[in-house]
Amino acid sequence: MTAFVRNQWYVAAYAHEVGRELLGRTVLGEPILLYRTEDGRAVGLADRCVHRRFPLSEHPSRLEGDKVVCGYHGFTYGTDGVCVRVPGQTRVPRTARLATYPVVEQDSFVWVWIGDREPGDTLPPRAPWLDSPHYTTVCGMEPIEGDYGLLVDNLLDLSHETYLHGGYIGTPEVAETPITTEVDDKSAIVRVSRHMDDAECPPFYANSTGIQGRITRWQDIEYHAPALYLLHSRVAPVGTPAPRPDGSDPDAFHVEVVYGITPSTEKSTYDFWAVARDFALDDQEVTEYLRSSNHTVVMQDVVALNALQRALDTEKPGYQELSINIDTGGLAARRILARLAAENSPQAAAR
Ligand code: FES
Ligand SMILES: [Fe+2]
Repeated sequence: MTAFVRNQWYVAAYAHEVGRELLGRTVLGEPILLYRTEDGRAVGLADRCVHRRFPLSEHPSRLEGDKVVCGYHGFTYGTDGVCVRVPGQTRVPRTARLATYPVVEQDSFVWVWIGDREPGDTLPPRAPWLDSPHYTTVCGMEPIEGDYGLLVDNLLDLSHETYLHGGYIGTPEVAETPITTEVDDKSAIVRVSRHMDDAECPPFYANSTGIQGRITRWQDIEYHAPALYLLHSRVAPVGTPAPRPDGSDPDAFHVEVVYGITPSTEKSTYDFWAVARDFALDDQEVTEYLRSSNHTVVMQDVVALNALQRALDTEKPGYQELSINIDTGGLAARRILARLAAENSPQAAAR
């Protein structure tokens, strides 16, 4: 199992999922209740009533103004987690208090901080395209019945597109083109790039951009361990000028593929996926096409990773993996995750 990394921000939900309904999500094994106050602020509290541990996100628990009323016997809590009312007595036990979780809304995500210390000035990594007026975004979330490390491996090695996602985003060139890998240990970022100069245009891009013929296709991955994965994808007809020195690149199509990778339990993961594009911004047909194609691609990964987890569960202890060049990025990510997990373990905090 891939160790959890504490003292980090994780995507718990999309901003649009958090409202005046009680929402329960389990992040790094911690059950969290999310809702929005009447004035629109997102709140994160422990999702277990202190009385008999009833999940506060479960029916018939409810909001009363900004307070949460437990659906079992009526313990009532404020946004600070403090219990303000218990049934049948006026005295509220002093210890009746829910843990609170720091919450930040950024780039259309609701991030929660999981850790033993406060986040201080630390903010979640950015994915500014997701709520930028210059991009149109489709997104969703799929649960995976697997260790989050399987999703990290999967996303850092895109050569699998050729095999698992043929007919959508995979073409022969993806698996055939070598990658370059760069590791920034201090910032815990792994970068993996694959630039294809002359490649087949897969249906995902042909149908959305209208390009006919061959393309230059750049995949530049930036994995901000542990929780955020960005794939900067650049697609342009062969012969299109390269990006200008100032970074502008008016003749190419850009897609920013974003994943929030959120470990839920040891063997389950929330896969928050989003695809933001800088072309055909108002074209509803392109939007629906990218939504359904990308959902299909995500489900191909989910089905494969669920099968992989089931297979690993039946392996004898000490089984051997075999790694090759395409695994360089994934192996670098595993090393960073192991280091971050050790540095932020409860044992390290106690030292
Ligand atoms: S379990 Fe919540 S009030 Fe009893
Ligand atoms: Fe995939």
